Amino acid sequence: MIEKGTKIQPAEGKLGILLVGLGAVSTTFIAGVEAAKLKRSKLIGSLTQMGHIRLGKRTDKKNPLIKDFVPLAKVEDLVFGAWDIFPDNAYEAAAKAQVLKYEDLEALKPALEKIKPMTAVFDQAYIKNISGPNVKTGKNKLDLAQQLIADIENFKKTTGVNRMVMIWCGSTEAFIQNSEVHLNLAAFEKGLEASDARIAPSMIYAYAALKSGVGYCNGAPNLTVDVPAIQQLALEKKLPISGKDFKTGQTLMKTVLAPGLKARMLGIDGWFSANILGNRDGEVLDDPDSFKTKEESKLSVLETLLQPDQYPDLYGNLYHKVRIHYYPPRGDNKEGWDNIDIFGWMGYKMQIKLDFLCRDSILAAPLVLDLVLFTDLAQRAGMKGIQEWLSFYYKSPMVAEGLYPEHNLFIQEMKLKNTLRYLMGEDQITHLGIEYYE
Ligand SMILES: NC(=O)c1ccc[n+]([C@@H]2O[C@H](COP(=O)([O-])OP(=O)(O)OC[C@H]3O[C@@H](n4cnc5c(N)ncnc54)[C@H](O)[C@@H]3O)[C@@H](O)[C@H]2O)c1
Repeated sequence: MIEKGTKIQPAEGKLGILLVGLGAVSTTFIAGVEAAKLKRSKLIGSLTQMGHIRLGKRTDKKNPLIKDFVPLAKVEDLVFGAWDIFPDNAYEAAAKAQVLKYEDLEALKPALEKIKPMTAVFDQAYIKNISGPNVKTGKNKLDLAQQLIADIENFKKTTGVNRMVMIWCGSTEAFIQNSEVHLNLAAFEKGLEASDARIAPSMIYAYAALKSGVGYCNGAPNLTVDVPAIQQLALEKKLPISGKDFKTGQTLMKTVLAPGLKARMLGIDGWFSANILGNRDGEVLDDPDSFKTKEESKLSVLETLLQPDQYPDLYGNLYHKVRIHYYPPRGDNKEGWDNIDIFGWMGYKMQIKLDFLCRDSILAAPLVLDLVLFTDLAQRAGMKGIQEWLSFYYKSPMVAEGLYPEHNLFIQEMKLKNTLRYLMGEDQITHLGIEYYE
């Protein structure tokens, strides 16, 4: 176990961010960081950059910025690399994603067009609705993994970065479950050599990252690092992994609202969530196999939050339905519409309607920044395996076997901040506060 006030290696030199997928989220993330470097905009939505953390008692009045309290890499020290099945550079990809305004894109063009994607490891069986030419070929999946390892080495050499973190911002893969080939590292490596169909491209990236001494974050609902073989590798290599599926629009709202309703012991009969979106992510999710992966991730949230077994009178009959509709005219500006049927005193029924006209990638980009900075911190602090304290960022947080995930956004925030206090040798904050009245 990591000790309180553990020694953390300093954040010296540059930090390489390896993005798998150079689509809407990745390009919006890079653009925001580059805009901040040029002082065009602030890093809004990022806890590492904008958030404060209270230390000690309320009367101590110690509330530093998180980035001044923990030794994080500086935003100016970030260097980007990416893989994509399309050869477009980050400027072209951002223009196609249509998230950013023309004037922002043009101002950031010099920085964005420098980022050209490396050839990807891709398998059409896992993502049906898109295909592209910028793809590796190899004699088997082990060979493809070795090509990725060579890419990572080459990126390190040419950019001169000191450390790296990999984050999956690629499309959602088809739904798969754990099987024998995923059970341990030996079986997995044999599977790579035999090009076992149950090994998804995302797993090959995660394997290559960990083999190269690089921690991995999973922004999609893919199984990837949820398999024992990859977790074993992370522990052996003493590297952090976390996932899965960025918690942005609708699910973010769910994990804000549902804990509030439950705290007041209000019942819920039904929660119907519909989404319309028209970006490439929406196109991929139009395939039922990719949608199933997303659906599982979105559905698990309420069940775990509301604990219907413990509260059968309030949540025992909850009907939860989630739908995603691909609707091109909306582009990245997703509409997440929720109808919540609740009941209160004497069983009287009420309804809540929530219509979130959000921008998917604008919500996801700051999460990418925080995740790579915290994963780099974890790496330097020697934190290995699943990083549950990063649950705050994910729809389906990874947890140790036997634990249920914590979905409540405010408990997740407390867990994250208490982890930072612990790492830095500060006392935990319990919010008891009784001592102020003695
Ligand atoms: N934007 C959000 O709010 C949000 C929230 C949660 C999860 N996500 C997930 O994040 C991911 C990225 O979202 P996006 O809107 O940027 O999608 P996008 O379609 O714009 O970008 C994904 C990119 O990944 C590329 N890609 C697919 N397979 C690849 C592979 N094997 N190797 C390299 N590149 C590959 C695609 O070509 C595409 O350019 C999706 O899986 C999405 O479900 C997004």
